[in-house]
Amino acid sequence: MSSNTLDRSLVLDAVRVTEAAAIASWTMVGRGDEMAADQAAVDAMRNALNELNIDGEIVIGEGERDEAPMLYIGEKVGKGGPAIDIALDPLEGTTLAAKAMPNALAVMAWAPKGTLLNAPDTYMDKIACGPGYPAGVIDLDKTAAENVQALAAAKGVAPSEITVCVLDRPRHAEIIASVRSVGARVHLITDGDVAGVINTSDPSTGIDLYVGSGGAPEGVLACAALKCVGGQFQGRLLFRNADERARAVRWGVTDLDRKYDLHDIVRADAIFAATGVTWGALLEGVTYKDGFVHTHTLVMNSSTGTVREVRMKRRVRSEARGSPMHELA
Ligand code: FBP
Repeated sequence: MSSNTLDRSLVLDAVRVTEAAAIASWTMVGRGDEMAADQAAVDAMRNALNELNIDGEIVIGEGERDEAPMLYIGEKVGKGGPAIDIALDPLEGTTLAAKAMPNALAVMAWAPKGTLLNAPDTYMDKIACGPGYPAGVIDLDKTAAENVQALAAAKGVAPSEITVCVLDRPRHAEIIASVRSVGARVHLITDGDVAGVINTSDPSTGIDLYVGSGGAPEGVLACAALKCVGGQFQGRLLFRNADERARAVRWGVTDLDRKYDLHDIVRADAIFAATGVTWGALLEGVTYKDGFVHTHTLVMNSSTGTVREVRMKRRVRSEARGSPMHELA
């Protein structure tokens, strides 16, 4: 095992962490309280991380120390062991969870220390496609229409056969018009661009391309997933003000306009895990049935090229079987 590779035994540890966060946030699904759903996931993920024999440092987390009391960037977690960079989003899609809408996930990526981009909590312009295309087929600096045409040519289909996933935001009106101008389909999502990017790697979703801006932390997490399954990604940090620029510099970004590709963002082998909170194309959500809570997790290891789906069921010991919330929260 090189220092660029994590021990494969960590794969199951990663699963335990996202399972814990998903179950805890599920107790708050549909209750209209985004903060409470997020807090439940954060607490559970932090507790689970602190049970592990790792020397973990959060590089993508809930924010900077002054704004996030837990899982802040720079926080150390674990009881000691291999030195690991951790990117996490205990609840990706807080609004989705609060409204019981599809595709809320608990997500985490691990890589050897010093190998994940220390992305500040800004936006990122993103473009991604799945595996099997020639390098450079997509380019962030081209229009969405040009990227659709290039991908269609590489796939050997007409642009009308291409589907592009885009976050449904007014800022994306131009992208949406550009995609449709060449006859391609637009698949709009209300939230959750980690899943949006990953879906490009799974032909069963029908998504070929992801385009648009979203959170930079989510960009790093999505790159870790694509590192495992293949695919292409380009991203550029977007800053709304001088404070965000200053933060980026503080986190070691030297070229604020840099166009990153996947391997600049995740510079070594990575482990990626995501557990469904609510149901979606990628993963089933948490369910409770017959005294057991059930989870569905995707876990991938880029060093071994393995992609696993893990189904877990855990007995809920509560005497009030019909109401497991108290025990799971
Ligand atoms: P949260 O889980 O933090 O609410 O993020 C959801 C999300 O949709 C991300 O997937 C995406 O990157 C980002 O928000 C987009 O930001 P905005 O809602 O400001 O357009």
